[in-house]
Amino acid sequence: MNVKELGVVLTPPITADYIVSKLGNISDNQKVLDPCVGPGVFVKSLLKAGVDKTQIFCHDVNSNYKVNIKDLGVKFKFIDTLLSFNSECYGEYDFIVGNPPYLNKASSYVRKNRAKLKQIYGKINAHETYSMFIVNSIWRLKEGGKLGFITSDSFLTLSTHSKLRSFILKNCIINEILLAPINLFDRQNVSTYPVIFFLTKCSKEENEQVRDNNLMKIIPRIKSEKEYWNPPVIIEIKQKRYKALPFNIFFVNAEEQILDLFENAPKLELFLKGYIGMHTHNNKKFIAAIENTELSGIFRKKRKLEKKSENFKVITRLELEKKRWKPYLKRGGGEQYHRPIMEALDWEQDSISIYDIPKSVPFGEEGIVISGISSRLAARYMPEGCYWDSNKAMGFIVQDSSISIDYFLGLLNSSLYNYLSKGILNNTNSIQLTGIHSLPFIKPDRSTHDEVSSLVKKIIENKKNNLSYDYTEEQKSIDIIIFELYAKKYNLSKNLRKDLEENYAIYK
Ligand SMILES: C[S@@+](CC[C@H](N)C(=O)[O-])C[C@H]1O[C@@H](n2cnc3c(N)ncnc32)[C@H](O)[C@@H]1O
Repeated sequence: MNVKELGVVLTPPITADYIVSKLGNISDNQKVLDPCVGPGVFVKSLLKAGVDKTQIFCHDVNSNYKVNIKDLGVKFKFIDTLLSFNSECYGEYDFIVGNPPYLNKASSYVRKNRAKLKQIYGKINAHETYSMFIVNSIWRLKEGGKLGFITSDSFLTLSTHSKLRSFILKNCIINEILLAPINLFDRQNVSTYPVIFFLTKCSKEENEQVRDNNLMKIIPRIKSEKEYWNPPVIIEIKQKRYKALPFNIFFVNAEEQILDLFENAPKLELFLKGYIGMHTHNNKKFIAAIENTELSGIFRKKRKLEKKSENFKVITRLELEKKRWKPYLKRGGGEQYHRPIMEALDWEQDSISIYDIPKSVPFGEEGIVISGISSRLAARYMPEGCYWDSNKAMGFIVQDSSISIDYFLGLLNSSLYNYLSKGILNNTNSIQLTGIHSLPFIKPDRSTHDEVSSLVKKIIENKKNNLSYDYTEEQKSIDIIIFELYAKKYNLSKNLRKDLEENYAIYK
């Protein structure tokens, strides 16, 4: 494999110096490992800091580095750190530093070694090499040993890494998380959002309290390497906060009050329950477009190109009203409150027998549909009688009859909820059911409930008459009412309100 395929990105020496400086005192009998040493940036920093060369151990899967590293007088093993791990490797080192390679699951390395990697790391995360290096290195550390790494920051929040985060919380004290400058690797034409973090292994079960009460240092994104030793903002929070957040998100910019809200308020799931939908196994054949919608034109064009006459049907509204078709929801996107139904599901007995329809899902009930793929949280009214797909749209049913569908629509489309789900839980385009369920919910008093409900009714009425109706004014009022309800109980700050207006509102 060539250098690129092995994820070679060199750490700037100042950054390596910072990581080494934070390890604390390294005494004469202690051992330090760089598990993916490359040309030895960290080795040079360690030597500069006065660590004796006999204490430094290195690995790399590329044997070309052997000569250079041996010239530095330290021990080098030409091995694959991830694959060579076995029971003898546990607890060997006092310190581990490095910049693990970032190779994702599409890389030739991960593809080639998938089965073995899965066997070793599958229970925690076998997607990217850097996350496996984190696990591998924590295993290799002695109890009380310290790790300092620079990696991509995506493991802090992405839901695919939730098991890795929970593994870290169970096995380590998190000393520091610092979001490093985004231009750090510019000269190497690599754009990443790097994070530097320090962990101390503390894996005994009886030390749970020590881990929970540990005060972590969280340093939001700094602008340049100069700021390492004197960052403009340092936030200190107890580690148990991360344990309480959904998916154990290692959130860096949250106010304490938002963490309080997640920790203490009941979960939305108790009041509004979502369900993953069904599969037709052949949408082209079983899903038709409804006449006079945006989609009917697209389907007609596709039908012309298509050889099979059974695909891309277009049906009239009248046909939809008959039992032969069911309204069907399968679209993501940012549209809120109301969107005319554009698709219909073939409801012929022969077709139904082909579908996978989960039994526990209350299809057909009136409720809310939330886009599974969207750049913002977007909820729309779901009339009675609908079925939905398993992909881009999720159906939700109200569980507490004292709260109206309209109120939930207003709440979910508010800037506060957009922030909670997009700003905190998941900053990608996909929205997960479990994420929505884990949002905090405060039951509104009657007047708040009714005010929001009536604003939402107005938006829906107007959108029904004119789809491009501008509901900015109503939305502003809803955003204020919802914010105040939550702010009153959880002391949310004016700064947060400003952030919501500037970054999470539809009218920003
Ligand atoms: C991001 S570079 C870091 C190099 C150097 N430590 C630095 O910080 O400048 C990652 C290094 O990991 C090595 N590498 C990739 N996969 C490896 C594996 N499975 N085991 C050991 N080393 C690996 C690459 O050859 C490369 O030298």
